[in-house]
Order: sequence, then C-alpha cells, then structure tokens
Amino acid sequence: MSDPIPLHYTEAGTGFPVVLLHGFPFDHTIWAAQQSALSDTYRVITPDLRGHGQSPALAADVYTMDDFAQDVIALLDTLDIERAVWVGHSMGGYIMLAALRLAPERIAGVAFVATHPYPDSADKQAGRRATAERVLAEGSVIAADSMRPIMFAPNFDTESATAQTIYDIMRNTAPETIAAAQRGMAGRPDSVPTVRAMTVPAVVIAGTDDQIMGINVARGMIDVLPAGTTLVEIADSGHMPMLEQPAALTDALRAFLAGI
Ligand code: MLT
Repeated sequence: MSDPIPLHYTEAGTGFPVVLLHGFPFDHTIWAAQQSALSDTYRVITPDLRGHGQSPALAADVYTMDDFAQDVIALLDTLDIERAVWVGHSMGGYIMLAALRLAPERIAGVAFVATHPYPDSADKQAGRRATAERVLAEGSVIAADSMRPIMFAPNFDTESATAQTIYDIMRNTAPETIAAAQRGMAGRPDSVPTVRAMTVPAVVIAGTDDQIMGINVARGMIDVLPAGTTLVEIADSGHMPMLEQPAALTDALRAFLAGI
C-alpha cells in the first residue's frame, strides 16, 4: 500500500459526517445536488479520489482499492472525523468495501450506489488490463468513448449538458490514472465475506436501467447483505442516479441516514 495522498475535497453543512465517494473516472462534482440538499442536516464531504478531479496523482502502475481507501481515511483524520456514513458510487463502492476491511471502526453505515461486492471475472480482468494499455498508448478518450454510450439510461439525452460534462470529466482524467484504477479494480478481492460480516446499517440503491451493472446485480446482492438491508430501485435511471434522478437519490439517502 502506498502512503496516503492529500485529497482535494469540498464540504458543506454541519452534523453527522457523510462522505460521498465518486466512481471511475469521475470527480466530486457529480455529487453537487446531494451535497447541497443533505448539508441542511449533515456534514457532507466529497473528496476527489487520487488522480481524479483536482486531487494529485501518484506515479504508480496500480491504484489498489486499499490505496484509495487509505487516502479517504487520512482525509477524515485531517478533518478530525472519527466515524462517518460512507456512500460509494460504483468504484467508490469498491473503495468503501476496502475501508470496511481496513478500518470498520471509521464507518457508521454504508450506502451502495450502483455498486456491488463481487470480484471481476477473469475476462473482465483481462479487459481492464487491455484498456489500461490502450489508454496509455492512445489517450483517455478511448475510455471516455467506450463508456459514453452506457453511462446513462437508454432514454437519457446524450446531447444534454450533463452528458457532455461527464464525458469531459472522463476524457480529462489522466491516462495514467485510468490505467492505474483499472488495474486496481481488476485486482480487487471478493468482498462478499466483508459484507456478510458487516455490522453497520446498509442500503443498496440502483437505477433500474443501469447498463453497466444491471439491476439484477443489486437485486441479488440483497441476499448476501445483512438481514434488514433495503434495496431502493430508482426508476428511469442508469449508472448515474445522482445526475439522472438527483431528487430520488437524495430522498433514498436521506431516508437511510435518518434511520442511523
Ligand atoms: C464506475 O463507475 O466506477 C465503474 O464503472 C466501475 C467499474 O468499472 O466496475
């Protein structure tokens, strides 16, 4: 594991801390609506993960999920936050699971947003490693172009300003970051034992039209999560419910947070 990197972050509000972790290869700005709404009651922190957004990168071939998690834990140390509710979107969820292994005492509850605890298949791992090589050779646009058609629900306006912003964030993420994160995701462990052993409250939130994860993954994972975990399905949303159905995602998070 590498030394933690000081992360760029924003925070808003006071109250119990909630940390919102973006997925790959995005940045903290995807959470603007949720941060703004939830900061009426909570202290909402949105980091940029290493190499993403305005956070510094570390020259490394691989960013493991543990590396990313250690950075977030170090940020919470800096902010004097002992425990927080963690909300992980996609790769942010894989990182949240790493934190659950590394420092469960820092976590008061977990919200899985378009994410899951399963490892990659061998094919998926090979695909990620091939993407890493291609992006290093040809640029981040390769990854941005392949993700663009599947980021949102099929009926989402791909000409919208939101879609363009997300595309630009992906395209502007450094190839080295994309490669290191892909390799890190390829090597992540099976987190089913972690979630089975979990003792904090959890919620699973997913878009019914998620073309990356598939709603059935969210429906199935309820069986491996502790009894009492709820599943919130967000209609008319793909992989980016924070942007596609921001109010519905905020409502789901607010209901979960109120019960902790
Ligand atoms: C993400 O949105 O973070 C990625 O799609 C996660 C992944 O590639 O598994």
